[in-house]
Amino acid sequence: MGSTIAARAPLRLGVLVSGRGTNLQSIIDAIERGELNAIIKLVISNRADAPGLIRAQRAKIPTRVIDQRRFGSREEFDGAMVDALRAAEVELVACAGFMRILSPVILDAFPNRIMNIHPSLLPAFPGLNAQKAALEHGTRLAGCTVFFVTPGTDDGPIIVQAAVPVMPDDDEQTLSDRILAQEHRIYPLAISLFQQGRLQLRGRQVVVVDAPKSIGRDALMNPPLRPSRS
Ligand code: GRF
Repeated sequence: MGSTIAARAPLRLGVLVSGRGTNLQSIIDAIERGELNAIIKLVISNRADAPGLIRAQRAKIPTRVIDQRRFGSREEFDGAMVDALRAAEVELVACAGFMRILSPVILDAFPNRIMNIHPSLLPAFPGLNAQKAALEHGTRLAGCTVFFVTPGTDDGPIIVQAAVPVMPDDDEQTLSDRILAQEHRIYPLAISLFQQGRLQLRGRQVVVVDAPKSIGRDALMNPPLRPSRS
């Protein structure tokens, strides 16, 4: 048995954004609908003009702008984020369109407690412009992945994935929109599974234990779920 990743309820979340923040919004909405037992303690942006900050403020969530240009190194910048996240007593960090690579300073401060979402079916198309890369490659399926962040680029243990078809007349925008709709579904789901203590890390595999029947039927979950005992 690997270690159980458990958390108290409600889960104290920190969210990192750099841009428009629609994934942040999906987390806010899931909390408001009662589907995710969490409280967002802090939203950090490295950009003062990120529209995601406005979404947070609208939801009365505390925000901080931490601009990497004010720091001499990536490690110092990450150290400032760690200080802010710890001061807010954050248990899980969710990167949501955060456009900075994380150093060991923050990864070690939150081991197996930093998630990210990527608009491809990893390990295909890591890095920037994943939707364009999928189109250019001619894949028939595209999708998105929620994973635990590790030092490698988009390489960490996979928590939830969703696939979408690539249509013959797709362009980058239409494919990105189709993927984004699934991002908004699976990111709150992955955080909720964490909050419920249902994620177990075995090596680099994340096993979802005792999943509720409602998501057990989701054939796109990876790895396959063990049937619920309840
Ligand atoms: C999403 O496509 C996400 O997968 C990627 O960056 C984008 C962020 O979008 N990591 P938003 O800021 O959440 O709207």
